[in-house]
Amino acid sequence: MNREDFPMLKNDIIYFDNGATTLKPKCVVDKIVEYYTEYTSNAHRGDYKTSIKVDMEYEGARNIVQDFINAKSREEVIFTSGTTESLNMIANGFFAPLLEAGDEVLITKSEHASNVLPWFRLQNEIGIKVNYIPLDDNHYVTLENVKKVITPNTKVISLAYITNVIGDKRPIKEICELAHQNNIFVVCDAAQAAPHISVDVQDLDVDFLAFSGHKMLGPTGIGVLYGKKELLNSLVPTNFGGGMNESFDDPNSIYLKELPTRLEAGTPNIAGAIGLGEAIKYLESIGMNKIQEYEKSLRSYLINKLIDIKHIDIIDIESDSGVVAFNVEDIFSQDVAVYLDKYNICVRAGNHCAKILKDEVGVKNTCRISLYIYNTKEEIDRLIELLSDKEKIRNEMI
Ligand code: ALA
Repeated sequence: MNREDFPMLKNDIIYFDNGATTLKPKCVVDKIVEYYTEYTSNAHRGDYKTSIKVDMEYEGARNIVQDFINAKSREEVIFTSGTTESLNMIANGFFAPLLEAGDEVLITKSEHASNVLPWFRLQNEIGIKVNYIPLDDNHYVTLENVKKVITPNTKVISLAYITNVIGDKRPIKEICELAHQNNIFVVCDAAQAAPHISVDVQDLDVDFLAFSGHKMLGPTGIGVLYGKKELLNSLVPTNFGGGMNESFDDPNSIYLKELPTRLEAGTPNIAGAIGLGEAIKYLESIGMNKIQEYEKSLRSYLINKLIDIKHIDIIDIESDSGVVAFNVEDIFSQDVAVYLDKYNICVRAGNHCAKILKDEVGVKNTCRISLYIYNTKEEIDRLIELLSDKEKIRNEMI
């Protein structure tokens, strides 16, 4: 849908790498250009007309994000460089001062590196223990399996909402309910969810949530850290500098500003935030439910065709997100990606930064198709035509 809004599609490409990043609609590009050509100035620092316009646009973008995720207050929306920075801020700024040796953090083997490495680091630095929620036969998280691994030492459950290789959606609301009954915090990596489904942080009752602008039609280098206000108030800034301090005279008299600026040291990514706001407006003009339904229908169209190809092994058939990972029998995933690129089809190959997933699924590398609103059944037909002929793939491999 809406293909005419995406200038990149004029380049005769079939873009199936939306889990990595998405194409940008013209309105987002225009909005960023407008900032750079019509009202460039810093945020929160000026007393002249363009700087006031910037403050309105930048803080307006925060309001748009607040509405988009249904946060209780705008102070609960912190702009960061992306999901990775958000998750690192949560681990290092909130949990590092709080957790003690022996405390446990539950993750799974299908998490992206950004939701593994910050916890591994805390294990190495302060002696917490990272434990894994066992996955079921489909590699999904079930509430029963979460219950099995909660112990009196469990302090945090940190999970992707939708995973970036299996594509499964986790029961985050139910997990939050269970976790809170046991005084456990829940952190949610929504990088692959916020672009595709409606996310309501109050309904989920999640403690922290992170996502990136560039995976949802926005610019790179901008993302969001959501946290409940009382928790964000205790998050120690991981950056100190201009903008976030109220006053300081010496090391003993540092007074910080209130949320959200307390956690946004330095000149923020103004163009990024404004561009993200525009991207969210664009997504909302279509409707998140409609987007989810469209992607579901594309996915089932793709799966129904892929399962008919004997030499293709699909990692997960059941889930209903737009992520489909597969391998062509006896052919290295990257060779398949390079073959498809000859026909201007963009897919991602490799481990997709989910480097411990191999312990679960038994394969290290896959080809991944990740769908979005501008993909079509005709594009899928072309992909299937090219994948159907194994000899052709073999012959055309470099
Ligand atoms: N995390 C992104 C992906 O899964 C880059 O491709």
